[in-house]
Amino acid sequence: MCGIIGVTGAADALDVLLDGLERLEYRGYDSAGVALVNHGDVARWRIADGTHSVASLRSLTGSAPPAQAGLGHTRWATHGQPNEANAHPHLDCGGNLALVHNGIIENHAELAAGLIERGHVLTSVTDSEVLAHLIEELMETTGSLLTSVQQALLVVRGAFAIGVMSETEPELIVAARRISPLIVGRSQGASYLASDIPAILERTRDVVIVEDDQVVELRPGSIIVRDRDGHEVVPRSMHIDWDIEAAQKDGFDDFMTKEISEQPRAIADTLRGRISDEGCIVLDRFELSDERVRSTNKIVMVACGSSFHAALVAKYAFERWTRIPVEVDIASEFRYRDPVLDKQTLVIGVSQSGESVDTLQAVRHGADGGAATMVVTNVVDSTMAREADAVLYTRAGPEISVASTKTVLASIVALQLLGLHLARVRGSLDDAAFAAEIAALGSLEAMVADTISRDEQTRTVANAVMDARDFFFLGRHAGYPTALEGALKLKEISYLHAEGYPGGELKHGPLAVIEPGCVVVALATGSPLKEKMLSNVAEVKSRGATVILVVDDGDEVAAALGDYCIFVPAAPELHAPVKDLVPLQQFAYHLARGRGFNVDRPRNLAKTVTVE
Ligand code: F6R
Repeated sequence: MCGIIGVTGAADALDVLLDGLERLEYRGYDSAGVALVNHGDVARWRIADGTHSVASLRSLTGSAPPAQAGLGHTRWATHGQPNEANAHPHLDCGGNLALVHNGIIENHAELAAGLIERGHVLTSVTDSEVLAHLIEELMETTGSLLTSVQQALLVVRGAFAIGVMSETEPELIVAARRISPLIVGRSQGASYLASDIPAILERTRDVVIVEDDQVVELRPGSIIVRDRDGHEVVPRSMHIDWDIEAAQKDGFDDFMTKEISEQPRAIADTLRGRISDEGCIVLDRFELSDERVRSTNKIVMVACGSSFHAALVAKYAFERWTRIPVEVDIASEFRYRDPVLDKQTLVIGVSQSGESVDTLQAVRHGADGGAATMVVTNVVDSTMAREADAVLYTRAGPEISVASTKTVLASIVALQLLGLHLARVRGSLDDAAFAAEIAALGSLEAMVADTISRDEQTRTVANAVMDARDFFFLGRHAGYPTALEGALKLKEISYLHAEGYPGGELKHGPLAVIEPGCVVVALATGSPLKEKMLSNVAEVKSRGATVILVVDDGDEVAAALGDYCIFVPAAPELHAPVKDLVPLQQFAYHLARGRGFNVDRPRNLAKTVTVE
């Protein structure tokens, strides 16, 4: 997500900030900014220049007077377009206070409404700016930056890591954290804060990991950490001996493992603030009227690669919940087959980048045919997001590894939210069923975290079949697109032959190539078709294939049929793909690493495909 940095007590504060922001460059961002506190004044510079933003910010601040304290930010937009007005740091009305934020303030709309009513002028559409004004308001009564931040955080819901400075206490930075990452550290009379280790690694290797709901006072060379009740606590310190490259990967060997590990957070952030206390779904930029939703009689999802598989998974849930027929089409095929479209059709483009040209053209083709268009994407203000009638953002943060992982899971979850919203508006799901689906969505974060933690079982299984060359992934129902995605991941990064099939289709051809040496990965997790899947497994086993079964915890009967087993927590069938994909990602990863390949940059592939 966004990157934040702060420093107090350094003679070269601006260099600390700009160097730190540069160290976060690998993540990609859309804008950057810094604020310096100098002789009791807050001065701010911001620029929205895509991935050149930090370089442009360096030129922009070339003549800034020397300062010892300041805050910096690189933005990966979640609320509001990537432009200068929405770039951080944000100021209060008086321009006396600067704030940087990483995270999502769930109740920003109601807080902003109150602030505007009380006379505040908000100059951006971000969720973050409200915090600057809330703190400004509290400063009027408390006169203390620390107390004001503590009080402001009591009324804020959501995830945040913040740094705040005020000209009234120019040497003080108050930082705080809930859910979003935050570290602080000090060296040679200066104190630092950052969202990510690489940002301050060149200045200090001894950092404090700030815990949830802790508030930190940073002064030159001094750091005081307090708990939510304001009591001073002994902080959790850590010595970092990684080099910059390892730090950018958070200590993981590569971005793919880092991004696999970020999946619980991606799911939680995608759901954050979108399910109200009353259990209703609240979608931020959903500009299709209820009337339009009710008149929809066909949905066409268009996408490529892994996003296509995410759409296929969602089709099962959409049709069950909304009772609207759903087609899922390969984007590059869709517009060349003269599809039947009209005003009652909703075309949904699914694209993590929002830029894949095939999906973009397919969505445009839908609009030309009179359909309403919508996009599910991870990139705010991407071309598709700008052009579609409605957009639903996944909030997975930047994905660097070419092989998609966290954006796929986030797309499935976002589509499930959308499907439930449509079902609710159309009245096709009763209260009890709706509540059960919402509860299932809510349990996915923990379930995925649990599945990720079982990597050792997948590694062992991958090692056991390291010499195999032919892989077949089988699934049924929503397990079928899960199998397709498992095969794609393996192909992409290990360069092995891998195919995904619906289990029932085997006997119509593919069974002919099954022989000793083939590996069959079969998804036999909770599904109404599990028994049939196990019959398909028996078919391949009797032809000599080595069978790896993905089964629910405790299902020893199914497990007995496999040569190897990967156990996963059980989930309702429509949600199962979200956690079943995890061991398939890990399986592909271990085979690719075992074969000595660079998992982040597979040959012949690009992260975003902007040519037809
Ligand atoms: C697979 C992968 C690609 C993309 C495809 C679509 O790991 O990364 O198959 O899924 O190129 O990209 P987006 O989602 O950006 O449209």
